[in-house]
Amino acid sequence: MTPDPSPSRHTRIGSHRDFDSFREHLNGLCPDIPADSEILRAPQSPLAADIEIFGKTAGNRWVIQPMEGWDGTEDGNPGELTLRRWKRFGLSGAQLIWGGEAVAVEADGRANPNQLVIAEHTLGGLESLRGALLGAHAERFGDSSPPIIGLQLTHSGRFARPGKDTGNQPRIAFRHPLLDDRVGVTDDSPVLTDLEVEGLIESFIAASVRAAELGFDFVDIKHCHGYLLHEFLGAHTRPGPYGGSFENRTRILREIVGGIRREAPALQVGVRVSIFDSIPFRRAPGGGGGVPEDFPGDEPYRLGFGIDMANPVEQDLAEGRTFLALLEELGIRLVNLSGGSPYYNPHLQRPALYPPSDGYLPPEDPLQSVARHLRATRALKLEFPGLAIVGSALSYLQEYLPHVAQGLVREGWMDLVGIGRMVLSYPDLPADTLERGELSRKRICRTFSDCTTAPRGGLVSGCFPLDDAYGSLPDAEALRELKKSSSP
Ligand SMILES: Cc1cc2nc3c(=O)[nH]c(=O)nc-3n(C[C@H](O)[C@H](O)[C@H](O)COP(=O)(O)O)c2cc1C
Repeated sequence: MTPDPSPSRHTRIGSHRDFDSFREHLNGLCPDIPADSEILRAPQSPLAADIEIFGKTAGNRWVIQPMEGWDGTEDGNPGELTLRRWKRFGLSGAQLIWGGEAVAVEADGRANPNQLVIAEHTLGGLESLRGALLGAHAERFGDSSPPIIGLQLTHSGRFARPGKDTGNQPRIAFRHPLLDDRVGVTDDSPVLTDLEVEGLIESFIAASVRAAELGFDFVDIKHCHGYLLHEFLGAHTRPGPYGGSFENRTRILREIVGGIRREAPALQVGVRVSIFDSIPFRRAPGGGGGVPEDFPGDEPYRLGFGIDMANPVEQDLAEGRTFLALLEELGIRLVNLSGGSPYYNPHLQRPALYPPSDGYLPPEDPLQSVARHLRATRALKLEFPGLAIVGSALSYLQEYLPHVAQGLVREGWMDLVGIGRMVLSYPDLPADTLERGELSRKRICRTFSDCTTAPRGGLVSGCFPLDDAYGSLPDAEALRELKKSSSP
């Protein structure tokens, strides 16, 4: 990827008058991306095909990605908006619910004071989320084909901010010269000791046992987006048993999976991983698209996972391949591929025309950022045909999301298609495609990034522009003020 130095405006997807015009846009930037000219209904649509996962049948290829709302109670239980979101996940018609949202395995590992926690006192709350999702699904679609539901388990590591008044409380795998400053790390005290890592592994195992007791079909041992286990994958510079070699950097995962097999043998495991990454980006001085941070050209960049060490603006899938081979070896067959981090390269992680308040203008056409995800996913799917692979970052495709998704599944780029931001504005997009073969244009996510900007300002996250339940909250006014004072 070579960042475009003068990226002010890119063609808006919504400005295309029809599919042919969109196809032309695609042809100019990424002609290899498949797209059907029409949305197909079930049973003709490739997205309507069954797929077997863990011996269960998912009746279509739509997946709801994990989407946090910053709306739990301070003790880590769900709030009303959390419950509403999970119900809407159930109404989507998607047959795989990937994790619901990130749930911290330790209270100190929360990314915000309103993130869910899995602990004895939150079991009832978590159970109610799963129950609400299944109830909504049954009401809308009947109860003969409930979706497969996982719970995403996390520790937010470098991006932990667990207390209302405590600010950042980072816990990190290694010192990072470009990121430490951003979260207030000034010495080694936030670096987890090996003993603390052992405790963390136990927390993931205990959380998995609880998720199994609650009836979740699988847990996602989250390895993406710059959070702690993702950071450990890139801990080349850390000494000791959890850093350095690939074997050491994946030891945490192997130990967690060993513990789950021992203590909750019927529970299935999935992994969401940022399979590629880049050096952190920042705003360009004086405006324009985001630019990569400076890094000495003669030094290998040993500060991440899935990054070309010789040219850290580029991805490198070599270790990603080794990682997927390890997952197969561990008997993990369900993988969700993501990339980058919303904190230090949001254009990679969630391609958008309108950046979040702490972001920067897109350094490339966001369609190219989507294509990067799709190509990486395709390359890995070809090499790992036995894995059920979920693809990410498609919401930017907007009205043409189903057109591209059909092509991707038909041509074997991915097995299942994940939707993230789109589910906040338009949760039943999967059902609309399969039942009606058309979309309701007014509900399409236009990537305004309010769902990211709001929580950066301590507000709840949701689709403020298109979902009245958020547009009418007092937080909506606070968001407007926040955007005035902070737009990039
Ligand atoms: C508001 C918001 C909350 C998110 N919460 C999570 C989360 O809890 N866990 C996770 O793995 N990804 C999370 N993501 C990332 C999404 O799952 C998804 O990867 C990203 O939005 C790109 O996909 P999209 O283009 O379909 O939106 C979140 C994204 C947003 C915008």
